[in-house]
Amino acid sequence: MCGIVAGVGIENLESVLLDGLSRLEYRGYDSAGIALNSMEAESVLLVKTPGKVKKLRKKLNSMSTEERGLQFSAGVAHTRWATHGAPTEVNAHPHSDTAGTFFIVHNGIIENYVELKKRLIDEGQKFSSETDSEVLAHLVAECYDGDFLKAVAAALKQVKGTYGVAVLSTKHPDALVVARKGSPIVIGLTANGVLAASDTAALVAHTSEVIYLDDGDIALLSPGNADIRNLDDLPVSREKMKIDWDLSVVEKSGFEHFMLKEIFEQPKALRDTIRGRLDHEQGAAVLSGLNLSPKEMLDANRIIIAACGTSMHAGMVGEYFFEDLADIPTEIEQAAEFRYRNPIISPNTLVIATSQSGETADTLAAVREAARKGASTIGICNVVGSTIAREVDRGIYLHAGPEIGVASTKAFTCQVVALLMTALKLARSRRLTREAGISLVSEIERIPELAAAVLEKNDLIKEVAEKYSEAENFFFIGRGNLYPVALEGALKLKEISYVHAEGYHAAELKHGPIALLEENVPVVALANDVPGKEKILGNIQECAARKSPVVAITTEGDDSVAESADVTIPVPRSSVFTTPVSTAIALQLFAYHFANKRGCEIDQPRNLAKSVTVE
Ligand code: G6P
Repeated sequence: MCGIVAGVGIENLESVLLDGLSRLEYRGYDSAGIALNSMEAESVLLVKTPGKVKKLRKKLNSMSTEERGLQFSAGVAHTRWATHGAPTEVNAHPHSDTAGTFFIVHNGIIENYVELKKRLIDEGQKFSSETDSEVLAHLVAECYDGDFLKAVAAALKQVKGTYGVAVLSTKHPDALVVARKGSPIVIGLTANGVLAASDTAALVAHTSEVIYLDDGDIALLSPGNADIRNLDDLPVSREKMKIDWDLSVVEKSGFEHFMLKEIFEQPKALRDTIRGRLDHEQGAAVLSGLNLSPKEMLDANRIIIAACGTSMHAGMVGEYFFEDLADIPTEIEQAAEFRYRNPIISPNTLVIATSQSGETADTLAAVREAARKGASTIGICNVVGSTIAREVDRGIYLHAGPEIGVASTKAFTCQVVALLMTALKLARSRRLTREAGISLVSEIERIPELAAAVLEKNDLIKEVAEKYSEAENFFFIGRGNLYPVALEGALKLKEISYVHAEGYHAAELKHGPIALLEENVPVVALANDVPGKEKILGNIQECAARKSPVVAITTEGDDSVAESADVTIPVPRSSVFTTPVSTAIALQLFAYHFANKRGCEIDQPRNLAKSVTVE
């Protein structure tokens, strides 16, 4: 959840690290800090602050040259999402040992920090923060006997938990040590120096040549070199990879917010998810990463989809696809629950993990539990090379491009489409006819166009969202595969506007929540012209009778909802399998304009983080 950037032998190191931190701020933004080895002063400049990276930048800029130095040989920087200890200056990273020799930035959790801290304090070390991370700095100092890499390795061997870590030392001004277990570290090689970060977004402005560390790897970085080993000091070889996107994908490109940019990127993102994956002739999906044999597909007798947050809502839509098309009983599981409740898994169970980041701790743990119990695991991830993507037996990348806005948008719709194509692949190897397959392929091919058509309604949706911008409570209702879309619509609204919004199955509303309906509680009803519409019309009447204003998402050309709803937002007619995509986009725009009108901080909502790497 935290962001790490580190560099050695890099020109303008301070600004490279600060720019990198700004690009990682979506991972966490409670506080920020930087430690730089000063070449003139032969000391470390340590600056930390609660708040965002811009505050850190301001603090650095306000210092005199004498105070801070100008030339730096190596540095580590961090943007934090607080777990242990409030987001204060002392709790901000980097943390150092008592003598101020080692400075560490850490992403993850040190589970045994209490006992380690107690021992270190008994031995005379002085702690300044309440964080779990600080023990690492003291442990490295304790293990140091002249060999930087070995000291960090020996320290890491003593900790239980997860880490992506970068360490700076006054004794080795031209070197850094980075290591990973459970939290990503990617190394970027530039012409002279080496960078490392928790995410390629921080590196893309400087290099396209990267190396992803594996769990258990540790590396000594020096100008022009990355010496990668395991914790037992044996060299390991990791492939250099090319990042195939450029800076524009991590910039707002004229949009007011990343979230809006990403909503508008959906036609392209969806096209990229679909590209080359449909076989028109056979009415099938060609998903090369999903290399299940025909027998395995035929034998599959249960699917479990494990995920969190928005990705879980995409999984809930997928549940309808697998049952309707492929005839396979499917359950969606909150990943956090799956790992602890001793799930029953048979050899013919397929466990699908949907995760934008591929790093969500609970989803990863669910994958590991499923694998332990003999299930075949499938990952549907966006981030290439992410932990989940690497640990599953097989998988599909979304190719949606980096998603920076904390509220997930394009990843959701692309996940829905990836799940639909997966269901089609399984369905065609089971009972779906070629004709039905061909018709579904045509529907899937239309999705990018559908998305573009919904985006054309942006002005209308803005007007509607602004009309209700004073409401403090909302309900979102839907049926069938639009029920999870209603949950997602409510989640989007509450995430970025802090307004209370609940998603409900339209029929469940009357089993309790209807008690809350009144004239200042709008209901957003997903009333598209798909099976179940007649029923939701009845539910809309029930809301209107309680004086709740109803905003209905409808199908173009279908006027049957207009007279019961206060406002309608028509989206193009599409099949029951693709309507969740168009409807979700309308709700994303609704949430965006609602929150923007209320002056909310859209891309970095309070308390949230993009990638939740703690349980
Ligand atoms: C966080 C993010 C959500 C996301 C969820 C799951 O809560 O703020 O937007 O849906 O994690 O993340 P994943 O990367 O696994 O999709």
